[in-house]
Amino acid sequence: MPQTDVLLIGGGGREHALAWALTASPILGTLYCAPGNAGIAALATCVDIDVTDHDAVIAFCKKTGIDFVVVGPEAPLVAGMVDDLSAAGIRAFGPTRAAAQLEGSKAFTKALCERCGIPTAAYGHFTNADAARTYVREQGAPIVIKADGLAAGKGVTVAQTMEEALAAIDALAADGSDIVVEECLVGEEASFFALTDGVNILPLATAQDHKRAFDGDTGPNTGGMGAYSPAPVMTEALVETTMRTIIEPTVRGMADAGMPFKGVLYAGLMITAEGPKLIEYNIRFGDPECQVLMMRLKDDLLLLMQGTADGTLNTMSVRWYDDTALTVVMASKGYPGAYEKGSEICGLEAIGDEATVFHAGTSMRDGKLIATGGRVLCVTGLGANVREAADRAYAGVAKIDWPGGFNRSDIGWQAIAREEDAA
Ligand code: AMP
Ligand code: GLY
Repeated sequence: MPQTDVLLIGGGGREHALAWALTASPILGTLYCAPGNAGIAALATCVDIDVTDHDAVIAFCKKTGIDFVVVGPEAPLVAGMVDDLSAAGIRAFGPTRAAAQLEGSKAFTKALCERCGIPTAAYGHFTNADAARTYVREQGAPIVIKADGLAAGKGVTVAQTMEEALAAIDALAADGSDIVVEECLVGEEASFFALTDGVNILPLATAQDHKRAFDGDTGPNTGGMGAYSPAPVMTEALVETTMRTIIEPTVRGMADAGMPFKGVLYAGLMITAEGPKLIEYNIRFGDPECQVLMMRLKDDLLLLMQGTADGTLNTMSVRWYDDTALTVVMASKGYPGAYEKGSEICGLEAIGDEATVFHAGTSMRDGKLIATGGRVLCVTGLGANVREAADRAYAGVAKIDWPGGFNRSDIGWQAIAREEDAA
């Protein structure tokens, strides 16, 4: 079988999980990762390229004979890395800059939803703060205020009161951001992932994450403090409705607009009393949702990603282990605010079969494992249900000796309560 040399872009827990799944592929030749981290370095050759410099990435691919590039995070996608790679004749997994607007611009996605009849929160888009204030006063609280554009999860205020809503508008106006105001959806959140080559769609799996920093889903919003897959709230019927009312019209709408979406579509959903509604799209795997998806994936990720890029998903299928996977994020104390870098992490070698550790923000310094990011480790367990998966993940967490870090102790609590109710 011909071997494929791959360059993976990114250096978080998501990319460690992608590297872990890619290295299981019999067609993988050499795996490179830019910039990578200490965990990825065990699986791939980490290379120090400035990934914002697309010419440098292209030059590395040409020099090294890279056949395929996998772009993990949203920023390079929104910046048009896949367009530039394709123009240079290099195949890549991920959407073009135009298609990446699905994550890059909330106003773009809202307009698509309106055009294609996709269920989502009612909204208004404002370039003028006074107009936003007037609209909010008309609508009343609770109401959701968002910055347009990429805001790393920090640009959203779910305002319970009019004062909170107006303060959020003031803050965005001070930043000069465009303002999106949305109806507050009520229900349970779930994430749904699908691969699409622009025409064909391969539904992947469901997941749920915990965005708040502290136990009981309290504290500030983060990139995600833990996740599990599958999401028990997403029944087969809900998956079918999501495909029919949200994913399929999106893929058709993007193709009709002349910007077919190729890559992974990550739909953030609210399961409301009226059915699933789209909260937002991301144009990449979730982090840490990717870690739990990869633990459950039976099929060859590299083949699936190549099928996505080549437009051959109609010939492919995907299988999953029935087990539940659950990951607990260990973060630097202070995250998502200011935190110290450079504290030492010990005990990873004591973890056996109970858990798989994906690194998010680590590097090796003088033979020591050092925390270098906000989110640092993702300790992941598999089990017959959410409770078992959580027990295994937390058995792994217990072996890690890292005074500079913290983690939530209740990842999966909603799903575990549901299991206990059902028992
Ligand atoms: P986003 O950055 O758009 O994912 O929003 C972050 C979080 O804010 C989501 O995961 C939801 O918990 C919440 N959120 C966003 N939009 C809405 C909405 N229209 N109604 C209720 N909650 C929302
Ligand atoms: N865990 C949320 C995200 O990746 O956007």
